[in-house]
Amino acid sequence: MITIGTYTLSVPFVAAPLSGISDLPYRLLIRSFGCELAFTEMISARGLAYHDKKTLELLKTCDADRPLGIQLLGSNAELLCRSLDVLAEIPHDIIDLNAACPVPKVIKKGEGASLMKDPKKLHDLLKRIVAKTTKPVTVKIRAGWDHRSVNAVEIARSAQDAGIAALFVHGRTMTQGYHGSVDYGVIRAVKEAVSIPVFGSGDVLSPLHAHMMISKTGCDGVVVARGALGNPWIFQQIAAFLTHGTLIETPSLEKVVQTMVQHLNACCDLYGERHGAVVFRKFFVWYTKGIAHIRALRNKAFHAATRADMLDIIGQISP
Ligand SMILES: Cc1cc2nc3c(=O)[nH]c(=O)nc-3n(C[C@H](O)[C@H](O)[C@H](O)COP(=O)(O)O)c2cc1C
Repeated sequence: MITIGTYTLSVPFVAAPLSGISDLPYRLLIRSFGCELAFTEMISARGLAYHDKKTLELLKTCDADRPLGIQLLGSNAELLCRSLDVLAEIPHDIIDLNAACPVPKVIKKGEGASLMKDPKKLHDLLKRIVAKTTKPVTVKIRAGWDHRSVNAVEIARSAQDAGIAALFVHGRTMTQGYHGSVDYGVIRAVKEAVSIPVFGSGDVLSPLHAHMMISKTGCDGVVVARGALGNPWIFQQIAAFLTHGTLIETPSLEKVVQTMVQHLNACCDLYGERHGAVVFRKFFVWYTKGIAHIRALRNKAFHAATRADMLDIIGQISP
């Protein structure tokens, strides 16, 4: 059991916020495979504060989509607080602040991983958010800005002082982006420096990686990100491995195809026959990783314009 403020997590893993990926269909699917706490992708506080239609669409949820963490992106305290007013209408369980995103257009605005460069500002923002919401507040940070300024421990202590309930630490610096090795030492140092739960992020691509993250860092739980792409079973696999040391076999092709259809249908039910198929295209590539001679079908999937087109292509997948 991991206590995150008023919320108790019964498994030592969460599903990462993933921009362009962790939408409602994705979250419902991974929940069916044992994920408990799932996060929305990063949501612009400005967009929310101004009731931007596209931003609000990213927050589509339903009763089965709980517990839900909403990740906010922003660096302006007023806008972040106004966005929390808008969120009062949307069911959710946890508020997370993004201090980890390395994307240039985010960094330019002083948001995301930029906040790693200004511990005082991050502390003040978190304090304001904690004071404003009744939900537990968490923050997702990086090891630091670059290898010369690794400051996750300082940031973690100051975030804890601001009243947050848990920390998610991506063990890479901003300049590493999503490449290079994960620094388990930094995550360990953060875990030793604070008393709130710490979740390790970075290359949790299999149950063995999850086990390694926990054993090397002493962290309370792991964040599953790219490891779940086209592989929603990873949550079941991690649970079985961490609890019983059992390695669950990878699913049969039949099961993969069945899951693809389920995922595609959920996308089309939410986004419509055409846009749903477009949203699903990238998932087609991930689900079919490792299948021999798949290139021609992937090319077709990349041009599939409707649910019917995509279903037809999925039906042609063979071992
Ligand atoms: C396509 C993509 C989108 C991401 N979007 C977000 C996001 O919206 N918010 C966030 O905090 N992290 C985001 N991340 C970072 C992941 O949550 C995670 O911390 C990172 O990928 C490291 O884990 P991994 O090596 O297991 O993938 C994103 C990563 C990827 C690859």
